[in-house]
Amino acid sequence: MSEKVRIAPLADLPDGRGVRVDAFGHRIAVFRVGGEVFALADRCSHAEASLADGELFDGAVECPRHGSEFDLRTGEPGSFPATKPVEVYAVAVEDGDVFVTLEPLEVAS
Ligand code: FES
Repeated sequence: MSEKVRIAPLADLPDGRGVRVDAFGHRIAVFRVGGEVFALADRCSHAEASLADGELFDGAVECPRHGSEFDLRTGEPGSFPATKPVEVYAVAVEDGDVFVTLEPLEVAS
């Protein structure tokens, strides 16, 4: 079952750059762009660099290691070398607090 988790007050998130959040085993890159907030898996689909350290351009984050750009809304890569999307988390801003919805992690058996 999915779980909605409070991660921070909106006012505490820096505008225009990423923050890494660890929550219940999820490594999440959170980006505030003005009044909007986006959350992606903080693991580039190419070679697992931290996207929270990437720069933002026109609704995308550029991977700091090899430069693939990922759409903040869809997680789809817009440039090589990455060819697979990264996971996108649902985000809600309620009463000044930012929440993400987490799905349970699959546990290898
Ligand atoms: S690790 Fe992100 S593009 Fe290579």
